[in-house]
Amino acid sequence: MKKEYSKYFAPSLKDARKRVNKDIKNIIFDVPESLVGLGNNLKYHIKTYGCQGNLSDSEKIAGILEMLGFTYVNYDEEADLILFNTCAIRENAEDRVFGELGRVKSLKKTKPNLILGICGCMPQEEKVVETIKNKHPQVDIVFGTHNIYKLPEYLADAFLKHERVVEVYSTEGNVVEEMPVKRDHSHKAWVDIMYGCDEFCTYCIVPYTRGRERSRQPEDIIREVETLADDGYIEVTLLGQNVNAYGKDLDREYKFANLLADLNKTKIKRIRFTTSHPKDLDDETIAVMAKGGNIMPHLHLPVQSGSNVILKKMNRKYTKEEYLEKIGKLKKAIPDISLTTDIIVGFPEETEDDFNETLSLVNEVGFEGAYTFIFSPREGTPASKYTDNVKSDVKKERLLTLNQLINEGFAAGNKRFEGEIVDVLVEGTSDKREDIMMGYTPHNKLVNFPGGLESVGRIVKVKIEKAYTWHLKGKMINEE
Ligand code: 5AD
Ligand code: SF4
Repeated sequence: MKKEYSKYFAPSLKDARKRVNKDIKNIIFDVPESLVGLGNNLKYHIKTYGCQGNLSDSEKIAGILEMLGFTYVNYDEEADLILFNTCAIRENAEDRVFGELGRVKSLKKTKPNLILGICGCMPQEEKVVETIKNKHPQVDIVFGTHNIYKLPEYLADAFLKHERVVEVYSTEGNVVEEMPVKRDHSHKAWVDIMYGCDEFCTYCIVPYTRGRERSRQPEDIIREVETLADDGYIEVTLLGQNVNAYGKDLDREYKFANLLADLNKTKIKRIRFTTSHPKDLDDETIAVMAKGGNIMPHLHLPVQSGSNVILKKMNRKYTKEEYLEKIGKLKKAIPDISLTTDIIVGFPEETEDDFNETLSLVNEVGFEGAYTFIFSPREGTPASKYTDNVKSDVKKERLLTLNQLINEGFAAGNKRFEGEIVDVLVEGTSDKREDIMMGYTPHNKLVNFPGGLESVGRIVKVKIEKAYTWHLKGKMINEE
């Protein structure tokens, strides 16, 4: 039987582009009493794609589901509810989701009551919602990045009324507090500090899918971090698309540097943050980072390109020289800092000279890691209309050349720790062996060492014996 829609509210990328000057409301999450128990005896499975923002959202979705009585299962065949939390940043991310959606729809044949949902960034695109409506009518729930807090209502429509829901907001001015969270780890946690992005880099879909910049109140963030520390968490990663813009929308003078300084005083042992925008990374932030303490000596600072012509076409609002000047300041203030970045190759009209500028910048900075991508045109963004005149095999060749250089930087970054004693926050056993533990150093280097499960979730001292390209090997010497 074809289900009716209880709601049909599709997105508009055009509306998502608008930035309206309305107040940001803080909403307190609440579930109607009548819906608690909705998930009793039902199992859920979430598939998460994309960035840390999505990982964090999935933990909230899981928190909501468990509050309603659902229990988690690792295999989608066993689930009564499967949710896809999706990413729209590049086309191949979307292709993967549609592929998986095709696969799980066959599960409905043997389990007609199975509910399928899709959320996250993809539903924020109107063409995706059209495709789902026309080609994947087996999807019961479609919602976006702005209305996770309304999930209980959508589940009631799907499970109790057997209706379909499409509800995606294109604009949003809210910050929702007190959402339940089911965290994936017991010693490290994501902490959202802001939502959305106002940068509009010409290649990027995020400002359309995640809405305008909205900062959480500092007190709410500090309280969350302190509670995490009290609960035994060792490390937090502060999340935002451009954390350096934190506070710009608050009704008081309070910036990212102020937040870092306040969190520096909390009991949490390790603080990381991502993502930084070179344009907004200010001297005050560098000064707070230089104080060290619980702020880790690693910075992920996406440069995207080393060519001023391309940077301008990308609307990045800095030049290669300005980027290098900030790197100079960082290295002066934090001499042992580890720097990583994001780079796009094959942007429309990128010449061999432009690409060589990127290689020379990578050499000069000495990045110790990078996420590298081939430009992917995203419908609705300005760059999707630029002349994409770089041949596909040239793009692939550039990516290979760049990756080779980045890998050399990765290896050199590891090499500098040979013979050193480092602090490792132990995460668990290595993938391959149960007697080998793995964890990360303050500089975010992966370390393997022989040990037992009793070290998991603790910071231990490891003497590094050998550096490899992707990891370090050592021996534990004593515990903190
Ligand atoms: N094509 C390729 N890479 C992209 N990124 C963002 N949008 C695109 C796109 N359209 C990359 C940027 C960004 C990272 C998260 O993804 O490098 O920093
Ligand atoms: Fe996208 Fe640029 Fe915003 Fe990052 S800063 S999310 S690349 S628009």
